[in-house]
Amino acid sequence: MGWDPLFQDLKNAAEHERPKLGKQLNELKNLVSNALETAQTQWRSDAVHDQLDLSLPGRKPYLGRRHPLTKILDEIKSIFVSMGFVIEDGPEIESDYYNFEALNMPRNHPARDMQDTLYISEDIVLRTHTSPVQVRVMENRKPPVRIIAPGRVYRRDTPDASHSPFFHQVEGLVVDEGINFGDLKGVITAFAHKMFGSDIRVRFRPSFFPFTEPSAEYDFICVFCRGKGCRVCKNTGWVEISGAGMVDPNVFDYVNYDSEKYTGYAFGMGIDRIAMLKYGIHDIRLFFENDVRFLEQF
Ligand code: DAH
Repeated sequence: MGWDPLFQDLKNAAEHERPKLGKQLNELKNLVSNALETAQTQWRSDAVHDQLDLSLPGRKPYLGRRHPLTKILDEIKSIFVSMGFVIEDGPEIESDYYNFEALNMPRNHPARDMQDTLYISEDIVLRTHTSPVQVRVMENRKPPVRIIAPGRVYRRDTPDASHSPFFHQVEGLVVDEGINFGDLKGVITAFAHKMFGSDIRVRFRPSFFPFTEPSAEYDFICVFCRGKGCRVCKNTGWVEISGAGMVDPNVFDYVNYDSEKYTGYAFGMGIDRIAMLKYGIHDIRLFFENDVRFLEQF
C-alpha cells in the first residue's frame, strides 16, 4: 500500500485541522521510509547475507518412534493374548540345566551341536533359545499352562544378512489334559492369518527337537508372492518360520508333571524373521545398527 490514499483522505478532515494532520502524516512517512532504508542498507551490507542460501530446505525435526522389532513384538503379543496366552519371561544368562539338560539334552548329547553356544563358564551360557522359559514356568506352576515367552537369544554366529550373534524369539507352551497336535496347528494357523492375512497357508514338516516328540518345522506360504515363487522364498513358495511339537514326556519328568495325565505342545518363533517378512527387510543387521535412515521408515 502506498501513502497516496492517506494523503487523499486529508480532504475529508475539517479544514482547520488539515495543515496539522498533513504535517504529522509527512513526519510519519519520513520516519517509516528512513527506517526501511536503514534496514535495507544494513541487510545488504550484512556479512551473513552473503552466506545465506534461501534455496536451502529447512531442517527436519526427528521425532522418536518405536523400533520395528518392538512394533512386531507388540503385535505378536496382542495376537497371542487375544487367544488366551499369558506373557512370561526368563533370564538371558541361563544355566546349562535350563538351556539344555531339562530340555532333554543331557551333557554330550549330540543335539547340543544344533546350536552354537556362547559359554560364560562351564555351567552358565547365554541362552541359545527361549525354550528354557518352558521349564522355568512349569517348575513354578501346575497345569493348565498357556504362555508365550518373548526375548533375546544368543548364538556364536558370524553376522551376515540372515545371521546375527543375537536375535529374538517367542516361545509358546500349552499344557493341559487332552491337548493334541491339532490344537498346535490351529493356534499357529490362527497366528499366521492374523499376522499376514487370512489367505496365508501353513504347513508342518516332520523334524527333530530333543524337547518335543513328535517334532515339526512349520512354514508359511510366502508372504510376498503368495506361493508363486520369488526371491524371498527362493522360488519354493514357502518361508520357514520355526519349530514346534508335542512336549516330550522326558521334559515333563524334569518338572514333575504327570505325563500320563497331561499333554502339551510347544513352538518357537523368530521375531526378527517375522519382522523381516512383514516389512520386506532383507538384512537382519539393519535392526541393530541404529541408522536413523532405516529406523525412520517405520
Ligand atoms: N528352540 C528351538 C530353536 O531355537 C525352536 C523350537 C523348536 C522351540 C521346537 C519349540 C519347539 O518350543 O517345540 O531352534
